Amino acid sequence: MLPPVNSAHRRTLGPIATPNRLLLGPGPSNAHPTVLRALARTPIGHLDPLYVELMGEVQELLRYAWQTDNRLTIPMSGTGSAAMEATLANTIEPGDTVLVAVKGYFGLRLADIAGRYRANVVTLEKPWGEAFSLAELEEAVATHRPKILAIVHAETSTGICQPMEGIGDLCRQHDCLLLLDTVTSLGAVPLYLDAWKVDLAYSCSQKGLSCPPGLGPFTMGPRAAAKMMARQGKVPNWYLDVTLLNQYWGSDRVYHHTAPVNMNFGMREALRLLAEEGLDSAWARHRSNAERLWAGLERLGLELHAPEHLRLPTLTTVRIPEGVDGKAFTLHLLNQHGIEVGGGLGALAGKVWRIGLMGYNSRPENVDRLLNLFETELPAFRPAGTPAAVAV
Ligand SMILES: Cc1ncc(COP(=O)(O)O)c(C=O)c1O
Repeated sequence: MLPPVNSAHRRTLGPIATPNRLLLGPGPSNAHPTVLRALARTPIGHLDPLYVELMGEVQELLRYAWQTDNRLTIPMSGTGSAAMEATLANTIEPGDTVLVAVKGYFGLRLADIAGRYRANVVTLEKPWGEAFSLAELEEAVATHRPKILAIVHAETSTGICQPMEGIGDLCRQHDCLLLLDTVTSLGAVPLYLDAWKVDLAYSCSQKGLSCPPGLGPFTMGPRAAAKMMARQGKVPNWYLDVTLLNQYWGSDRVYHHTAPVNMNFGMREALRLLAEEGLDSAWARHRSNAERLWAGLERLGLELHAPEHLRLPTLTTVRIPEGVDGKAFTLHLLNQHGIEVGGGLGALAGKVWRIGLMGYNSRPENVDRLLNLFETELPAFRPAGTPAAVAV
């Protein structure tokens, strides 16, 4: 006889009814309606020949989005952090020196993960709102002789885009792998992985690609693959082991884990839409909408945190004016207007708002709607006696 069912945790709920928010924060961003329709399709088997064909399409289109010929280009099952961890887990051997160029929150995460794989982690730090010069990186690489230099291209915590000129050559000269975080740039900000001589990169599904969160695009070039293949022991993370995953994504199609098939339906559609628009058009769209936002915010008397030449088109950091409760304003936007804007992270907590214009959301009407709210609603959050903002 089975015991009676314990109903202590049983709840009678209505069907899910989440609101339609406009997500203009650091991510996730709204997914494209075509992507959402793809997600709702009936799953097919993860070894079905049609699914196998779709896997190839996703790989090919990811190569296009990243401008790489890397064979080992796959969407990791998991969010961007899973793909981030995969780049490090597969290539670090205990004691390897990993140099992490930290100029924001996600650089710190890279350093944390590298340490967990028993790397000798060395960090090179910059204030949150600056980028590294080639000379600074050159000096650090020459001093520490790392096996891997890890750096964030688009730092979501600061809104800074790292200039890439010369970094790949520097790494080749010192026999070091170049690892690049492209979570907030893929599909939205110019990226040329092969021309930049990047050996390892990762991204996410929920920003420039207009998908919900759940997949972490991952790519590994031949130099990184050689290091992985030469390692002494097994990759110390079973789920993210690219030597095993490659047997499923390569021609053998050996089962590793059940692929999140519907997420890959969505990814396939998102990448198809990106290819249809064309990478250069998508990059130009992000740039022009970001410029519209920057000009509008500055006309309102607000100060942008990132210097213009380093500003990311996908993520804008705006300094919270003196005396304004930044959190109260973002809560007001969310509760009264259904718009999400992010707060600051780490060293910038309480100091900036973070406005994302990514993928499907990078549109002039979204910019204008938000600027209008900054103009009409922010004055009520300013301390009494503050001069009124200049009209847009
Ligand atoms: C630059 C950067 N790296 C890594 C991550 C981690 O990605 P996820 O949150 O999808 O795991 C994020 C998330 O926003 C990010 O902005």
